[in-house]
Amino acid sequence: AYQSSSMGVGVLMKDIKTEQLELGMNEASKILLKEIERKKSSPEKMAKILASITPTLSYADFGNTQFVVEAVVENEKVKKAVLADVENNTSPETILASNTSTISITKLAEGLKRPDKFCGMHFFNPVHRMPLVEIIRGAKTSQDTIARAVNYANQMGKTPIVVNDCAGFLVNRILFPYFNGFIFLLEDGVDFQRIDKVMEKFGWPMGPAYLLDVVGIDTGFHASSIMANAFPDRMGFKSKTILEVMYEQKRFGQKNSLGFYEYELDKKGKQVKKVNPAVYEIIKPTIKRQLDITDEDIVMRMMLPMIIEASRCLEDKIVESPVEVDMGLLLGLGFPPFRAGALKYADSVGMNKLDEASQKYLEL
Ligand SMILES: NC(=O)c1ccc[n+]([C@@H]2O[C@H](COP(=O)([O-])OP(=O)(O)OC[C@H]3O[C@@H](n4cnc5c(N)ncnc54)[C@H](O)[C@@H]3O)[C@@H](O)[C@H]2O)c1
Repeated sequence: AYQSSSMGVGVLMKDIKTEQLELGMNEASKILLKEIERKKSSPEKMAKILASITPTLSYADFGNTQFVVEAVVENEKVKKAVLADVENNTSPETILASNTSTISITKLAEGLKRPDKFCGMHFFNPVHRMPLVEIIRGAKTSQDTIARAVNYANQMGKTPIVVNDCAGFLVNRILFPYFNGFIFLLEDGVDFQRIDKVMEKFGWPMGPAYLLDVVGIDTGFHASSIMANAFPDRMGFKSKTILEVMYEQKRFGQKNSLGFYEYELDKKGKQVKKVNPAVYEIIKPTIKRQLDITDEDIVMRMMLPMIIEASRCLEDKIVESPVEVDMGLLLGLGFPPFRAGALKYADSVGMNKLDEASQKYLEL
């Protein structure tokens, strides 16, 4: 709601709970107050933007909407029920989009009367900062719907890429093999702090353990299970992973201040990470062996699964070109910009070296 209204497109923000609507308005205010602090906005602009978000508990005014983005809880049954309600309360011309991160768009369209007018619109957290939006084409989505979703994303100041429906869509399908690289390194006895340091030196804004804490380990575990089901040959696990163990121990990451790291608020209210050695006791049962490994090996074991999945996405025509794959990773994940994306990075490493590494890690 904030993103749309901040770019001059007013919105109705519907929820089933007043306190959630208040939360939404508060979040928008917080972002705007920060903008004013940074001298990028003014109190007048803030008032205008907030006034263009209309919180509501009813569908009464939905008849005139041109575009509806559903973003309710990540549950197929609830989403299907809400989407059907929206369809019944909007005009036949209204485009419907779901902000799901894990549910198939083709499946969500099953109960709709106008599946051609439905698509996915997957934003990345934090939404006001990450430029990418994946526009997902389900089996029945029309070309006109895709065009209108692309147009709306542009109006919101985002960079859209059009992606064909598959588990994880484009970006998460490529991200999870990278997380799996991390999981297997931990199982080989490599310290998560070292992996974070090596990958940050490589150019990532944050290493994989820190990233999982920010994304939410509960969210990560849920999505990882979906990816494992969709691609069991290469994303399945033979034993309990560290994500499952952390989830069971209720270490959800920054959202409850406990993850791989632990978090405290500084004077400015920003979460600062620190290490509590107790976390190593939680990781210990998942360690299968102690491998001596170089930093170069760590980079290769993290990046190779990502590169391979990026190539598979191209083969499966999830997007049309290598540039779109790389753009998705740069704008949706914060892939190191100077490396220009996983496929461009693969080119710079060279096929010979990648092939050699693939042979070396065949057992993984
Ligand atoms: N959290 C992320 O990192 C992330 C990233 C990308 C996409 N998404 C997607 O965004 C969506 C929302 O995620 P979230 O983390 O904000 O979840 P959340 O649980 O914080 O918010 C869901 C909201 O939906 C409301 N809701 C529930 N049932 C409803 C109904 N029948 N009608 C109207 N509103 C209803 C709830 O009251 C709540 O305010 C999910 O589909 C999720 O997959 C989340």
